[in-house]
Amino acid sequence: MSNNIESILTESRVFEPSEMIKSQAGINKEILDAMYEKADKDHIGFWADLAREKLSWSKPFTQALDDSKAPLYRWFSDGELNVSYNCIDRHLENKSDKLAIIFEGDQGDVHHYTYQELHDEVARFANALTAQGITKGDRVIIYMPMIPQAVFAMQACARIGAIHSIVFGGFSAEALRDRVENAGAKMVITTDGGLRGGKSVPLKASVDEALEKGCDTVKNVIVYQRTKQDVNMKEGRDIWWHEAEAGMSNYHDPVMVNADHPLFLLYTSGSTGTPKGIQHGSGGYLLNAMLTNEWMFDLKDSDVFWCTADVGWITGHSYVAYGPLAMGQTILMFEGVPTYPDAGRFWQICQDHGVTVFYTAPTAIRALMKFGKEVPEKYDLSKLRILGTVGEPINPEAWMWYHDVIGRGECPIIDTWWQTETGAHMIAPFPGVTPLKPGSCTRPLPGIDAVVVDEEGNEIGNNSGGYLVVRKPWPSMLQTVWGDDQRYIDTYYAKFNNKYYVVGDSAHKDEDGYIWILGRIDDVLNVSGHRLGTMEIESALVAHPKVAEAAVVGKPHDVKGESVFAFVVLNQDLPEGAERDAMVTELRNWVAKEIGPIAKPDDIRFGTNLPKTRSGKIMRRLLRTLAKGEEITQDTSTLEDPGILKQFQQK
Ligand code: PRX
Repeated sequence: MSNNIESILTESRVFEPSEMIKSQAGINKEILDAMYEKADKDHIGFWADLAREKLSWSKPFTQALDDSKAPLYRWFSDGELNVSYNCIDRHLENKSDKLAIIFEGDQGDVHHYTYQELHDEVARFANALTAQGITKGDRVIIYMPMIPQAVFAMQACARIGAIHSIVFGGFSAEALRDRVENAGAKMVITTDGGLRGGKSVPLKASVDEALEKGCDTVKNVIVYQRTKQDVNMKEGRDIWWHEAEAGMSNYHDPVMVNADHPLFLLYTSGSTGTPKGIQHGSGGYLLNAMLTNEWMFDLKDSDVFWCTADVGWITGHSYVAYGPLAMGQTILMFEGVPTYPDAGRFWQICQDHGVTVFYTAPTAIRALMKFGKEVPEKYDLSKLRILGTVGEPINPEAWMWYHDVIGRGECPIIDTWWQTETGAHMIAPFPGVTPLKPGSCTRPLPGIDAVVVDEEGNEIGNNSGGYLVVRKPWPSMLQTVWGDDQRYIDTYYAKFNNKYYVVGDSAHKDEDGYIWILGRIDDVLNVSGHRLGTMEIESALVAHPKVAEAAVVGKPHDVKGESVFAFVVLNQDLPEGAERDAMVTELRNWVAKEIGPIAKPDDIRFGTNLPKTRSGKIMRRLLRTLAKGEEITQDTSTLEDPGILKQFQQK
């Protein structure tokens, strides 16, 4: 939800850290100031020292940053380590009986895994992957629900040096196929189905559909049995997880890789029609993923950390599968949805498993807020000590509810700004230190040179706005766009002569230098904290045989932040009445099939042409006004055909 910055700033209140959090937080003001000072004086040395201190290396690096091919930066390149070893094996000596994962399934089934058990599961599966011919550098697609086996699969890939790419289970077969093909994947790991809100989602069937055409690189599909629903197993290609693991040893020697060896690809939307495979390395990525769990969430041995994100998104990588495990802490995983069987589910889980640190998206808070505070009040949430948010600006009303109702007015709200590309938090408060302002992600972390600049790339002063950029490289930055270095440079660096990483968000800096994210500067929507490219949805729509042209914009939505609003020109007469309703349904389902249900337009309007200038440019600003249902104040005199505005205003 876009903040209305003027009104928020004038009403903005400052929340000093509560006594409770001040007395607990591992990092106090002195430590933090010293970190800022060190990072300012010696940016590379700051990161190098942390990398030596926090990670376990089989071979130390001799050079922290290789900028010889900038902006294709590489961190700790000649050092060697294994990410899975860092997340699991190194904790076994002292913490083998400590809980690594607490899992609650959609139907309330609970499983616990200690670090030793996690090790055994991962080692066995790593052996199974090796037996199936997967080796270092091979790409493996993981298309699974939010169950511990998804983490085992990720960790097992990391253990053998294979590069995983998770495709969110809500993406369609078509979207899955595009990603399999782009990554040149050798294997797909999936389940028969997933359970969400009491319904089963047929994942294996989508994999079958995806692999029907093309995807020749895929040799095998491993299928974990989750729902026991009927699935087709293709002879010679498909193998059950339990059969692949049968007879495999619980011992697996982790494959040491260079720190810049790719750990994973994660596809995300940009301003073109095709998603890009964001490539992350191993050592640098893990360093920031781990550190930010320590810095922002203050994780300790007594904590139970629940990040509600699915492993299909970057948040589920850095704050579920890797970061907290690298710290040797306990995570909670939940398979289901916040409103099943009722809107108390999140709070019931917090209570039942003693969650202490809770991290979710503003869209979930807004959705749950609608049910009233009576729902969370039924549960004992007294163990909570830190609350986090991510994915979009949090509106102050939701912030206050989260703070007062869920956090008893005592828990700090850690509003974390970051992206798939940045790998880990970049701008966020430190619990117990940073005074908070509802709606602001506060200040960049030590070693993160994020600033707001003007059109010329000059840093702006307080009380103004501009482009958010990062001027210096940082360890968990994306390495490139998979297979397309030029796209990486063009997308993220070209705007300011390859000097700065251009985030794609605009931001405001207030009188105290606090950063307020205003929204995207490109054609990217943020629907329920998920990034969707308008071009991607437009391409999906025009692929429908009856669609001639389509333009998609975002419409402010009080729960989802933004919703998808599509303007469509059909290659037939303008539909009316029931015919129009049927067309709307058909196109919504079509988009769900092409991309996934998250991309379904909430609204579809039809016209005989899109509003374009005489030079043929689509007037997107005008479309945004139409989507909001607001009075048109823009100059429409350059419109080729003003009559079409009436058509598009018609519901
Ligand atoms: O626009 C920003 C918004 O989400 C974008 C990144 O999306 P994605 O790569 O999918 O990663 C989401 C999870 C990290 C950003 O460019 N965004 C993310 N966090 C915040 C945010 N906007 C405002 N406040 C945040 N805390």
